[in-house]
Amino acid sequence: MYNIAMAKYLIKTYGCQMNLHESEKLAGVLENAGFSATDKENEADVIVFNTCCIRESAEQKIYAHIGALKSIYKKNPNLIVAVCGCMAQEKGTSDIIQKKFPFVKIVFGTHNLTKFKEYLDKYNLSKKRVFEIWENEKDIDENCPKYRTSGYNAWVNISYGCNNFCTYCIVPYVRGRERSRDMNDIINEVKELVHNGYKYITLLGQNVNSYGNDIDDKNVTFANLLDKLSNLDGNFKIKFMTSHPKDLNDEVINVIAKKSKICKVIHLPCQSGSTKILKAMNRRYSREEYIALIDKIKTKIKDVVLTSDFIVGFPGETEEDFIQTCSLVEYCKYNSIFAFMYSKRKGTIAEKMDNQIDIATKRQRVNKLLAIQHQITKEINLNLKDSIHNVIIEKTLDNNQYLAKSDCGKTIIVNADSKLEENQFYDIKITKITNNKIFGKLIGD
Ligand code: SAH
Ligand code: SF4
Ligand code: F3S
Repeated sequence: MYNIAMAKYLIKTYGCQMNLHESEKLAGVLENAGFSATDKENEADVIVFNTCCIRESAEQKIYAHIGALKSIYKKNPNLIVAVCGCMAQEKGTSDIIQKKFPFVKIVFGTHNLTKFKEYLDKYNLSKKRVFEIWENEKDIDENCPKYRTSGYNAWVNISYGCNNFCTYCIVPYVRGRERSRDMNDIINEVKELVHNGYKYITLLGQNVNSYGNDIDDKNVTFANLLDKLSNLDGNFKIKFMTSHPKDLNDEVINVIAKKSKICKVIHLPCQSGSTKILKAMNRRYSREEYIALIDKIKTKIKDVVLTSDFIVGFPGETEEDFIQTCSLVEYCKYNSIFAFMYSKRKGTIAEKMDNQIDIATKRQRVNKLLAIQHQITKEINLNLKDSIHNVIIEKTLDNNQYLAKSDCGKTIIVNADSKLEENQFYDIKITKITNNKIFGKLIGD
Protein backbone atom coordinates (compact mmCIF):
# COMPACT_ATOMS: atom_id res chain seq x y z
CA MET A 1 0.00 0.00 0.00
CA TYR A 2 1.28 3.45 -0.86
CA ASN A 3 1.23 6.54 1.31
CA ILE A 4 -1.40 8.72 -0.37
CA ALA A 5 0.30 11.95 0.73
CA MET A 6 3.35 11.02 -1.31
CA ALA A 7 1.78 8.78 -3.92
CA LYS A 8 2.65 9.42 -7.55
CA TYR A 9 0.83 8.62 -10.78
CA LEU A 10 1.80 8.33 -14.41
CA ILE A 11 -0.78 8.31 -17.21
CA LYS A 12 0.20 7.01 -20.65
CA THR A 13 -2.20 8.28 -23.29
CA TYR A 14 -2.73 6.83 -26.77
CA GLY A 15 -5.05 7.87 -29.59
CA CYS A 16 -7.00 11.03 -30.31
CA GLN A 17 -7.60 14.41 -28.63
CA MET A 18 -10.67 12.94 -26.98
CA ASN A 19 -8.36 10.56 -25.12
CA LEU A 20 -5.88 13.32 -24.25
CA HIS A 21 -8.74 15.15 -22.58
CA GLU A 22 -9.99 12.02 -20.88
CA SER A 23 -6.54 11.59 -19.37
CA GLU A 24 -6.97 15.09 -17.92
CA LYS A 25 -10.10 13.72 -16.21
CA LEU A 26 -8.21 10.68 -14.87
CA ALA A 27 -5.53 13.07 -13.62
CA GLY A 28 -8.27 15.21 -12.03
CA VAL A 29 -9.58 12.18 -10.14
CA LEU A 30 -6.08 11.28 -8.93
CA GLU A 31 -5.05 14.84 -8.02
CA ASN A 32 -8.26 15.22 -6.01
CA ALA A 33 -7.35 12.04 -4.17
CA GLY A 34 -3.97 13.54 -3.19
CA PHE A 35 -1.71 11.97 -5.82
CA SER A 36 0.88 13.97 -7.75
CA ALA A 37 2.20 13.41 -11.26
CA THR A 38 5.53 11.89 -12.22
CA ASP A 39 7.01 11.08 -15.62
CA LYS A 40 9.21 8.28 -14.26
CA GLU A 41 7.86 4.74 -14.29
CA ASN A 42 10.10 3.64 -11.43
CA GLU A 43 8.80 6.46 -9.21
CA ALA A 44 5.12 5.79 -9.83
CA ASP A 45 2.69 4.08 -7.46
CA VAL A 46 -0.05 4.00 -10.10
CA ILE A 47 0.46 3.71 -13.87
CA VAL A 48 -2.60 4.11 -16.09
CA PHE A 49 -2.75 3.17 -19.78
CA ASN A 50 -5.49 5.20 -21.48
CA THR A 51 -5.70 3.23 -24.69
CA CYS A 52 -6.76 3.42 -28.35
CA CYS A 53 -7.84 0.63 -30.71
CA ILE A 54 -8.47 2.54 -33.94
CA ARG A 55 -5.90 0.42 -35.83
CA GLU A 56 -4.23 -2.90 -35.08
CA SER A 57 -0.82 -1.19 -34.97
CA ALA A 58 -2.01 1.01 -32.09
CA GLU A 59 -3.10 -2.05 -30.13
CA GLN A 60 0.10 -3.98 -30.70
CA LYS A 61 2.16 -1.03 -29.53
CA ILE A 62 0.09 -0.74 -26.35
CA TYR A 63 0.35 -4.47 -25.56
CA ALA A 64 4.12 -4.19 -25.99
CA HIS A 65 4.25 -1.16 -23.66
CA ILE A 66 2.14 -2.91 -21.02
CA GLY A 67 4.35 -6.02 -21.26
CA ALA A 68 7.46 -3.89 -20.81
CA LEU A 69 6.22 -2.85 -17.35
CA LYS A 70 6.81 -6.34 -16.00
CA SER A 71 10.37 -5.52 -14.95
CA ILE A 72 9.22 -2.35 -13.13
CA TYR A 73 6.54 -4.37 -11.35
CA LYS A 74 9.11 -6.96 -10.26
CA LYS A 75 11.10 -4.23 -8.54
CA ASN A 76 7.97 -2.64 -7.05
CA PRO A 77 5.23 -5.25 -6.40
CA ASN A 78 3.06 -2.53 -4.83
CA LEU A 79 2.74 -0.84 -8.20
CA ILE A 80 -0.86 -0.61 -9.43
CA VAL A 81 -1.15 -0.86 -13.21
CA ALA A 82 -4.52 0.10 -14.68
CA VAL A 83 -5.75 -0.15 -18.28
CA CYS A 84 -8.72 1.87 -19.54
CA GLY A 85 -10.03 3.58 -22.68
CA CYS A 86 -11.15 2.29 -26.07
CA MET A 87 -9.05 -0.87 -26.18
CA ALA A 88 -10.23 -1.90 -22.72
CA GLN A 89 -13.82 -1.40 -23.90
CA GLU A 90 -13.27 -3.61 -26.96
CA LYS A 91 -14.76 -7.11 -26.70
CA GLY A 92 -12.17 -9.70 -25.63
CA THR A 93 -9.40 -7.33 -24.50
CA SER A 94 -10.25 -7.60 -20.84
CA ASP A 95 -9.83 -11.42 -21.00
CA ILE A 96 -6.49 -11.12 -22.79
CA ILE A 97 -5.20 -8.70 -20.14
CA GLN A 98 -6.50 -10.87 -17.33
CA LYS A 99 -4.56 -13.89 -18.64
CA LYS A 100 -1.45 -12.34 -20.13
CA PHE A 101 -0.64 -9.55 -17.70
CA PRO A 102 -1.19 -10.61 -14.06
CA PHE A 103 0.42 -7.40 -12.84
CA VAL A 104 -2.42 -5.34 -14.36
CA LYS A 105 -4.70 -4.84 -11.37
CA ILE A 106 -7.51 -2.64 -12.69
CA VAL A 107 -9.28 -2.61 -16.08
CA PHE A 108 -12.22 -0.33 -16.88
CA GLY A 109 -13.88 0.90 -20.08
CA THR A 110 -14.91 4.19 -21.68
CA HIS A 111 -18.36 4.37 -20.05
CA ASN A 112 -17.08 4.23 -16.46
CA LEU A 113 -13.89 6.27 -16.76
CA THR A 114 -14.90 8.73 -14.07
CA LYS A 115 -15.29 5.88 -11.55
CA PHE A 116 -11.54 5.24 -11.46
CA LYS A 117 -11.13 6.32 -7.82
CA GLU A 118 -13.77 3.81 -6.68
CA TYR A 119 -11.92 0.98 -8.45
CA LEU A 120 -8.63 2.08 -6.91
CA ASP A 121 -10.20 2.05 -3.43
CA LYS A 122 -11.82 -1.33 -4.10
CA TYR A 123 -8.47 -2.82 -5.12
CA ASN A 124 -6.64 -1.30 -2.15
CA LEU A 125 -9.19 -2.73 0.26
CA SER A 126 -9.52 -6.21 -1.21
CA LYS A 127 -6.21 -6.66 -3.06
CA LYS A 128 -8.34 -8.44 -5.66
CA ARG A 129 -8.04 -7.42 -9.31
CA VAL A 130 -10.88 -5.16 -10.48
CA PHE A 131 -12.20 -5.71 -14.04
CA GLU A 132 -15.21 -3.55 -14.75
CA ILE A 133 -16.45 -2.87 -18.29
CA TRP A 134 -19.93 -1.45 -18.79
CA GLU A 135 -21.70 -2.63 -21.96
CA ASN A 136 -23.65 0.58 -22.55
CA GLU A 137 -23.17 4.29 -22.19
CA LYS A 138 -24.72 6.10 -19.22
CA ASP A 139 -25.69 9.75 -18.64
CA ILE A 140 -22.86 12.25 -19.04
CA ASP A 141 -20.96 12.78 -15.78
CA GLU A 142 -20.69 16.58 -15.50
CA ASN A 143 -18.97 16.49 -12.13
CA CYS A 144 -15.68 14.85 -13.00
CA PRO A 145 -12.72 16.99 -11.93
CA LYS A 146 -10.18 17.88 -14.64
CA TYR A 147 -6.48 18.48 -14.27
CA ARG A 148 -5.53 20.27 -17.49
CA THR A 149 -2.07 19.81 -18.94
CA SER A 150 -2.49 21.28 -22.43
CA GLY A 151 -0.92 24.73 -21.94
CA TYR A 152 -2.87 27.67 -23.36
CA ASN A 153 -5.35 25.33 -25.07
CA ALA A 154 -8.31 23.81 -23.24
CA TRP A 155 -10.19 20.81 -24.61
CA VAL A 156 -13.96 20.90 -24.16
CA ASN A 157 -16.23 17.94 -24.99
CA ILE A 158 -19.42 18.91 -26.76
CA SER A 159 -20.52 15.35 -27.51
CA TYR A 160 -19.52 11.77 -26.82
CA GLY A 161 -19.86 8.65 -28.96
CA CYS A 162 -20.77 8.30 -32.61
CA ASN A 163 -23.81 7.20 -34.62
CA ASN A 164 -22.24 7.05 -38.05
CA PHE A 165 -20.97 3.49 -38.25
CA CYS A 166 -18.46 4.03 -41.03
CA THR A 167 -17.91 0.41 -42.02
CA TYR A 168 -14.17 0.37 -41.16
CA CYS A 169 -14.45 2.08 -37.78
CA ILE A 170 -14.53 0.68 -34.26
CA VAL A 171 -15.34 3.97 -32.49
CA PRO A 172 -19.15 3.53 -32.36
CA TYR A 173 -18.63 0.12 -30.73
CA VAL A 174 -16.24 1.32 -28.04
CA ARG A 175 -17.64 4.81 -27.42
CA GLY A 176 -21.36 4.11 -27.69
CA ARG A 177 -24.14 6.20 -29.24
CA GLU A 178 -23.83 9.95 -29.69
CA ARG A 179 -24.70 12.01 -26.59
CA SER A 180 -24.59 15.82 -26.72
CA ARG A 181 -23.76 17.86 -23.65
CA ASP A 182 -26.23 20.48 -22.48
CA MET A 183 -25.48 23.77 -24.25
CA ASN A 184 -25.43 25.76 -21.00
CA ASP A 185 -22.98 23.34 -19.39
CA ILE A 186 -20.63 23.87 -22.34
CA ILE A 187 -21.04 27.66 -22.29
CA ASN A 188 -20.41 27.82 -18.54
CA GLU A 189 -17.31 25.66 -18.84
CA VAL A 190 -15.93 27.85 -21.65
CA LYS A 191 -16.67 31.05 -19.67
CA GLU A 192 -14.70 29.72 -16.75
CA LEU A 193 -11.80 28.59 -18.93
CA VAL A 194 -11.58 31.98 -20.61
CA HIS A 195 -11.73 33.63 -17.20
CA ASN A 196 -8.83 31.41 -16.13
CA GLY A 197 -6.74 32.63 -19.06
CA TYR A 198 -7.02 29.86 -21.68
CA LYS A 199 -6.44 31.31 -25.15
CA TYR A 200 -7.73 28.50 -27.33
CA ILE A 201 -10.87 26.49 -26.65
CA THR A 202 -10.99 23.33 -28.75
CA LEU A 203 -14.43 21.75 -28.96
CA LEU A 204 -14.35 17.96 -29.21
CA GLY A 205 -16.76 15.46 -30.72
CA GLN A 206 -16.43 12.51 -33.10
CA ASN A 207 -18.72 14.54 -35.35
CA VAL A 208 -19.11 18.09 -34.03
CA ASN A 209 -21.59 18.98 -36.78
CA SER A 210 -24.24 16.60 -35.49
CA TYR A 211 -24.08 18.23 -32.04
CA GLY A 212 -27.63 18.54 -30.66
CA ASN A 213 -29.26 15.98 -32.99
CA ASP A 214 -30.14 13.90 -29.92
CA ILE A 215 -31.68 16.88 -28.10
CA ASP A 216 -35.32 17.85 -28.78
CA ASP A 217 -34.77 21.62 -28.73
CA LYS A 218 -34.31 22.72 -32.37
CA ASN A 219 -32.07 25.61 -31.27
CA VAL A 220 -29.42 23.24 -29.93
CA THR A 221 -27.24 23.02 -33.04
CA PHE A 222 -23.51 23.27 -33.68
CA ALA A 223 -24.00 26.56 -35.58
CA ASN A 224 -25.85 28.09 -32.62
CA LEU A 225 -23.29 26.77 -30.14
CA LEU A 226 -20.45 28.32 -32.17
CA ASP A 227 -22.37 31.56 -32.43
CA LYS A 228 -23.04 31.74 -28.68
CA LEU A 229 -19.46 30.85 -27.73
CA SER A 230 -17.99 33.38 -30.13
CA ASN A 231 -20.14 36.11 -28.56
CA LEU A 232 -18.59 35.54 -25.12
CA ASP A 233 -16.30 38.29 -23.80
CA GLY A 234 -12.58 37.72 -23.63
CA ASN A 235 -9.45 37.43 -25.71
CA PHE A 236 -9.65 33.83 -26.93
CA LYS A 237 -10.18 31.74 -30.04
CA ILE A 238 -12.31 28.70 -30.82
CA LYS A 239 -11.30 25.54 -32.64
CA PHE A 240 -13.24 22.32 -33.13
CA MET A 241 -12.83 18.75 -34.32
CA THR A 242 -13.89 16.56 -36.05
CA SER A 243 -16.25 17.68 -38.83
CA HIS A 244 -18.12 15.04 -40.82
CA PRO A 245 -18.66 16.32 -44.39
CA LYS A 246 -22.22 15.00 -44.55
CA ASP A 247 -23.29 17.24 -41.65
CA LEU A 248 -21.27 20.41 -42.29
CA ASN A 249 -24.10 22.74 -43.33
CA ASP A 250 -24.34 26.35 -44.55
CA GLU A 251 -25.22 27.72 -41.10
CA VAL A 252 -21.98 26.35 -39.68
CA ILE A 253 -19.93 27.64 -42.63
CA ASN A 254 -21.55 31.09 -42.30
CA VAL A 255 -20.87 31.40 -38.58
CA ILE A 256 -17.22 30.36 -39.06
CA ALA A 257 -16.86 32.93 -41.85
CA LYS A 258 -18.48 35.72 -39.83
CA LYS A 259 -17.00 35.39 -36.33
CA SER A 260 -13.47 36.57 -35.72
CA LYS A 261 -13.04 34.40 -32.61
CA ILE A 262 -13.50 31.19 -34.64
CA CYS A 263 -10.29 29.89 -36.24
CA LYS A 264 -10.54 29.49 -39.99
CA VAL A 265 -9.24 25.93 -39.76
CA ILE A 266 -11.38 22.91 -40.67
CA HIS A 267 -10.35 19.28 -40.36
CA LEU A 268 -12.68 17.61 -42.86
CA PRO A 269 -11.81 13.91 -43.23
CA CYS A 270 -12.64 12.65 -46.70
CA GLN A 271 -11.28 9.06 -46.41
CA SER A 272 -11.35 8.30 -50.18
CA GLY A 273 -11.66 10.09 -53.52
CA SER A 274 -13.70 7.28 -55.05
CA THR A 275 -17.49 7.39 -54.79
CA LYS A 276 -17.58 3.58 -54.97
CA ILE A 277 -15.29 3.27 -51.93
CA LEU A 278 -17.05 6.08 -50.05
CA LYS A 279 -20.28 4.15 -50.49
CA ALA A 280 -18.69 0.93 -49.22
CA MET A 281 -17.35 2.94 -46.26
CA ASN A 282 -20.89 4.25 -45.51
CA ARG A 283 -19.64 7.84 -45.54
CA ARG A 284 -22.88 9.09 -47.12
CA TYR A 285 -21.39 11.59 -49.60
CA SER A 286 -19.96 11.21 -53.08
CA ARG A 287 -16.66 12.47 -54.48
CA GLU A 288 -18.58 15.23 -56.28
CA GLU A 289 -20.49 16.30 -53.15
CA TYR A 290 -17.29 16.44 -51.13
CA ILE A 291 -15.53 18.54 -53.78
CA ALA A 292 -18.55 20.88 -54.01
CA LEU A 293 -18.39 21.32 -50.22
CA ILE A 294 -14.67 22.15 -50.35
CA ASP A 295 -15.33 24.69 -53.15
CA LYS A 296 -18.12 26.31 -51.10
CA ILE A 297 -15.98 26.53 -47.96
CA LYS A 298 -13.10 28.10 -49.90
CA THR A 299 -15.42 30.69 -51.45
CA LYS A 300 -17.17 31.61 -48.21
CA ILE A 301 -14.28 31.49 -45.71
CA LYS A 302 -11.35 33.66 -46.74
CA ASP A 303 -7.91 32.05 -46.26
CA VAL A 304 -9.42 28.89 -44.77
CA VAL A 305 -6.96 26.16 -43.81
CA LEU A 306 -8.20 22.67 -44.66
CA THR A 307 -6.85 19.34 -43.44
CA SER A 308 -8.10 15.79 -43.94
CA ASP A 309 -7.79 12.06 -43.22
CA PHE A 310 -7.56 9.31 -45.84
CA ILE A 311 -7.63 5.53 -45.65
CA VAL A 312 -5.87 3.61 -48.41
CA GLY A 313 -6.33 -0.07 -49.14
CA PHE A 314 -9.96 -0.31 -48.04
CA PRO A 315 -11.39 -3.67 -49.22
CA GLY A 316 -12.03 -3.56 -52.97
CA GLU A 317 -9.95 -0.41 -53.58
CA THR A 318 -8.59 -0.73 -57.14
CA GLU A 319 -5.71 1.22 -58.65
CA GLU A 320 -8.33 3.46 -60.35
CA ASP A 321 -10.04 4.14 -57.00
CA PHE A 322 -6.69 5.05 -55.50
CA ILE A 323 -5.84 7.37 -58.42
CA GLN A 324 -9.13 9.16 -57.70
CA THR A 325 -7.97 9.70 -54.10
CA CYS A 326 -4.68 11.13 -55.39
CA SER A 327 -6.44 13.49 -57.78
CA LEU A 328 -8.85 14.64 -55.05
CA VAL A 329 -5.92 15.43 -52.75
CA GLU A 330 -4.26 17.37 -55.56
CA TYR A 331 -7.48 19.30 -56.18
CA CYS A 332 -8.32 20.14 -52.56
CA LYS A 333 -4.87 21.50 -51.71
CA TYR A 334 -5.04 20.67 -48.03
CA ASN A 335 -2.50 22.18 -45.66
CA SER A 336 -1.80 18.69 -44.36
CA ILE A 337 -3.35 15.24 -44.28
CA PHE A 338 -3.18 12.05 -42.27
CA ALA A 339 -3.07 8.95 -44.46
CA PHE A 340 -3.67 5.52 -42.93
CA MET A 341 -3.45 1.99 -44.25
CA TYR A 342 -6.81 0.27 -43.75
CA SER A 343 -6.72 -1.93 -40.66
CA LYS A 344 -9.29 -4.70 -40.06
CA ARG A 345 -11.25 -4.12 -36.86
CA LYS A 346 -13.19 -6.91 -35.15
CA GLY A 347 -16.96 -6.57 -35.29
CA THR A 348 -17.03 -3.90 -38.02
CA ILE A 349 -18.79 -4.47 -41.35
CA ALA A 350 -15.64 -4.05 -43.45
CA GLU A 351 -13.92 -6.86 -41.55
CA LYS A 352 -16.05 -9.37 -43.44
CA MET A 353 -15.76 -7.73 -46.87
CA ASP A 354 -14.13 -9.58 -49.78
CA ASN A 355 -11.14 -8.26 -51.67
CA GLN A 356 -9.00 -7.27 -48.69
CA ILE A 357 -5.90 -5.52 -50.00
CA ASP A 358 -2.40 -6.87 -49.36
CA ILE A 359 -0.01 -4.97 -47.12
CA ALA A 360 2.57 -4.24 -49.84
CA THR A 361 -0.05 -2.46 -51.98
CA LYS A 362 -1.32 -0.53 -48.96
CA ARG A 363 2.21 0.55 -48.10
CA GLN A 364 2.93 1.64 -51.66
CA ARG A 365 -0.32 3.64 -51.83
CA VAL A 366 0.11 5.37 -48.48
CA ASN A 367 3.65 6.44 -49.41
CA LYS A 368 2.51 7.76 -52.78
CA LEU A 369 -0.35 9.75 -51.24
CA LEU A 370 1.92 11.23 -48.57
CA ALA A 371 4.49 12.19 -51.23
CA ILE A 372 1.79 14.06 -53.19
CA GLN A 373 0.71 15.91 -50.05
CA HIS A 374 4.30 16.67 -49.08
CA GLN A 375 4.74 18.59 -52.33
CA ILE A 376 1.46 20.49 -51.80
CA THR A 377 2.37 21.44 -48.23
CA LYS A 378 5.73 22.70 -49.47
CA GLU A 379 4.07 24.87 -52.13
CA ILE A 380 1.53 26.24 -49.64
CA ASN A 381 4.32 27.14 -47.22
CA LEU A 382 6.34 28.91 -49.95
CA ASN A 383 3.26 30.97 -50.85
CA LEU A 384 2.96 32.22 -47.28
CA LYS A 385 5.51 35.00 -47.85
CA ASP A 386 4.09 38.46 -46.96
CA SER A 387 0.89 36.98 -45.56
CA ILE A 388 -0.41 38.29 -42.23
CA HIS A 389 -1.32 36.05 -39.29
CA ASN A 390 -2.53 36.47 -35.77
CA VAL A 391 -0.27 34.16 -33.76
CA ILE A 392 0.25 33.19 -30.14
CA ILE A 393 3.69 33.55 -28.56
CA GLU A 394 4.82 30.27 -26.99
CA LYS A 395 8.37 30.98 -25.92
CA THR A 396 10.93 33.78 -25.74
CA LEU A 397 14.16 32.96 -27.60
CA ASP A 398 17.35 35.04 -27.66
CA ASN A 399 17.96 38.24 -29.67
CA ASN A 400 14.41 39.60 -29.76
CA GLN A 401 13.17 36.36 -31.25
CA TYR A 402 10.10 34.46 -30.22
CA LEU A 403 8.60 31.07 -30.99
CA ALA A 404 4.99 31.49 -32.12
CA LYS A 405 2.16 29.23 -33.34
CA SER A 406 -0.41 30.05 -35.99
CA ASP A 407 -4.07 29.01 -35.61
CA CYS A 408 -3.41 25.94 -37.74
CA GLY A 409 -0.41 24.89 -35.67
CA LYS A 410 2.49 26.10 -37.82
CA THR A 411 5.56 27.17 -35.86
CA ILE A 412 6.84 30.64 -36.77
CA ILE A 413 10.01 32.35 -35.53
CA VAL A 414 9.00 35.94 -34.91
CA ASN A 415 11.39 38.91 -34.72
CA ALA A 416 10.23 41.90 -32.71
CA ASP A 417 11.98 44.97 -31.32
CA SER A 418 9.32 45.40 -28.65
CA LYS A 419 8.91 42.98 -25.78
CA LEU A 420 6.24 40.36 -26.48
CA GLU A 421 4.32 38.49 -23.80
CA GLU A 422 4.10 34.72 -23.84
CA ASN A 423 0.58 33.28 -24.26
CA GLN A 424 -0.66 36.45 -25.96
CA PHE A 425 -1.82 37.03 -29.54
CA TYR A 426 0.05 39.33 -31.98
CA ASP A 427 -0.26 40.18 -35.68
CA ILE A 428 2.80 39.21 -37.66
CA LYS A 429 3.88 39.19 -41.31
CA ILE A 430 5.74 36.22 -42.81
CA THR A 431 9.13 37.42 -44.06
CA LYS A 432 11.09 34.32 -45.02
CA ILE A 433 10.52 30.60 -45.63
CA THR A 434 13.40 28.14 -45.64
CA ASN A 435 13.20 24.37 -46.10
CA ASN A 436 11.99 23.70 -42.60
CA LYS A 437 11.52 27.06 -40.91
CA ILE A 438 9.10 29.96 -41.26
CA PHE A 439 10.13 33.45 -40.12
CA GLY A 440 7.98 36.48 -39.45
CA LYS A 441 8.10 39.96 -37.97
CA LEU A 442 5.79 41.81 -35.66
CA ILE A 443 3.50 44.23 -37.48
CA GLY A 444 3.80 47.86 -36.38
CA ASP A 445 7.14 47.31 -34.67
N1 SAH B 1 -14.53 10.87 -35.75
C1 SAH B 1 -13.42 11.25 -36.49
C2 SAH B 1 -12.17 10.50 -36.14
C3 SAH B 1 -12.16 9.04 -36.35
S1 SAH B 1 -10.68 8.21 -36.06
C4 SAH B 1 -13.79 11.19 -37.94
O1 SAH B 1 -14.83 10.72 -38.30
O2 SAH B 1 -13.02 11.66 -38.73
C5 SAH B 1 -9.49 9.12 -36.99
C6 SAH B 1 -9.18 8.56 -38.33
O3 SAH B 1 -8.69 7.24 -38.26
C7 SAH B 1 -10.33 8.47 -39.30
O4 SAH B 1 -10.62 9.70 -39.90
C8 SAH B 1 -9.85 7.45 -40.29
O5 SAH B 1 -9.14 8.06 -41.35
C9 SAH B 1 -8.88 6.60 -39.48
N2 SAH B 1 -9.41 5.25 -39.24
C10 SAH B 1 -10.51 4.89 -38.57
N3 SAH B 1 -10.68 3.55 -38.59
C11 SAH B 1 -9.65 3.05 -39.31
C12 SAH B 1 -9.27 1.71 -39.71
N4 SAH B 1 -9.99 0.65 -39.41
N5 SAH B 1 -8.13 1.59 -40.44
C13 SAH B 1 -7.38 2.66 -40.77
N6 SAH B 1 -7.70 3.91 -40.44
C14 SAH B 1 -8.82 4.12 -39.71
FE1 SF4 C 1 -15.58 6.44 -36.92
FE2 SF4 C 1 -17.03 7.38 -38.89
FE3 SF4 C 1 -17.76 7.85 -36.37
FE4 SF4 C 1 -15.60 9.05 -37.35
S1 SF4 C 1 -17.71 9.35 -38.06
S2 SF4 C 1 -15.77 8.04 -35.38
S3 SF4 C 1 -14.77 7.52 -38.74
S4 SF4 C 1 -17.73 5.87 -37.38
FE1 F3S D 1 -9.84 8.01 -30.11
FE2 F3S D 1 -8.59 5.75 -30.59
FE3 F3S D 1 -10.75 5.73 -29.15
S1 F3S D 1 -8.83 7.40 -32.00
S2 F3S D 1 -11.98 7.44 -29.86
S3 F3S D 1 -8.82 6.75 -28.65
S4 F3S D 1 -10.19 4.21 -30.65
